Amino acid sequence: MKKGRILSGMRPTGRLHLGNYVGALENWVALQDQYETFFMVADWHALTTGYADTSSIKEDTRDMVIDWIAAGIDPERSPVFVQSHIKQHAELHLLFSMIITTARLERVPTLKEQVRTLKLSETTYGHLGYPVLQASDILVYRADTVPVGEDQLSHIEVTRELARRFNSLYGEVFPEPQAKLTKFPRLPGTDGQRMSKSVGNTILISDPPPVIKKKLRSAVTDPEKIRLGDKGHPEVCLVYTYHGKFNAPELKEIERGCRSGELACVPCKENLSSKISSFFQNLRDRREEMEADPEKVERWISEGDDRARHVAEETMEEVRKAMKF
Ligand code: TRP
Repeated sequence: MKKGRILSGMRPTGRLHLGNYVGALENWVALQDQYETFFMVADWHALTTGYADTSSIKEDTRDMVIDWIAAGIDPERSPVFVQSHIKQHAELHLLFSMIITTARLERVPTLKEQVRTLKLSETTYGHLGYPVLQASDILVYRADTVPVGEDQLSHIEVTRELARRFNSLYGEVFPEPQAKLTKFPRLPGTDGQRMSKSVGNTILISDPPPVIKKKLRSAVTDPEKIRLGDKGHPEVCLVYTYHGKFNAPELKEIERGCRSGELACVPCKENLSSKISSFFQNLRDRREEMEADPEKVERWISEGDDRARHVAEETMEEVRKAMKF
């Protein structure tokens, strides 16, 4: 017996980095055993901030889906599909947009944050509606569980409010979904800031070993530890944080060596680099196989689309009936 139904999604950002993996993908893979799972490429959501240049969306979608499957998402068990291929999301988005106020959406903190960090001089109508589209993604599958990072909690709150509002106006159609937070804290990028493609401080899960090695060589460490013999502070070192994830068995020994000064940063980074490389060896192999058979990836997506569309249309039939259309 499965515990319930999960829908989650990512905007198409191309090849994924360690932060995406630890913060989301790894969790998705594990959840397939316990839940009925649907995984979506949120390509319409990519337009909310990147509408001017759509040239890379298709390729980024493909690259991301290959990473999902290479990491262990099983497309036979979990439909993997593309948001823009399922028009029912757009219909539900429109209906939801009628029953939520603009004042409510203006209060969503992620909107203000994006305006600030991306230095947007104005907000589009679609960007304001970002959480309404996300609510439609979730509720069109009547998912009850949504694995997301902490930054998405305000969107799940909007989703719950829309489900309640719809149900009280027109009759019970939707569950009130719960967010399911990932346990591992966000991995920093190699410069110590939040790991992000736009910052350029990522290590990709598909990076070949020499690239991982090179990127780690320039990663920031404890500024007070310059050479062998200097006593380090692992709690401020991102290389140590990575060891915690990818090299847990040696963590105690690394901490001791760092604090005492016996372990220098260069060998510590080289050790980590080989641990990360072997952690993702299988993933790189599977990725290579898939690259050699591009039609197979297309087929998985199109089968995922069909399965998703079937469920979404069933929900929309109930929605139209409840609203007397
Ligand atoms: N907003 C999510 C993010 O940026 C992506 C997303 C779109 C999503 N639709 C979703 C996540 C539905 C979970 C459920 O990470």
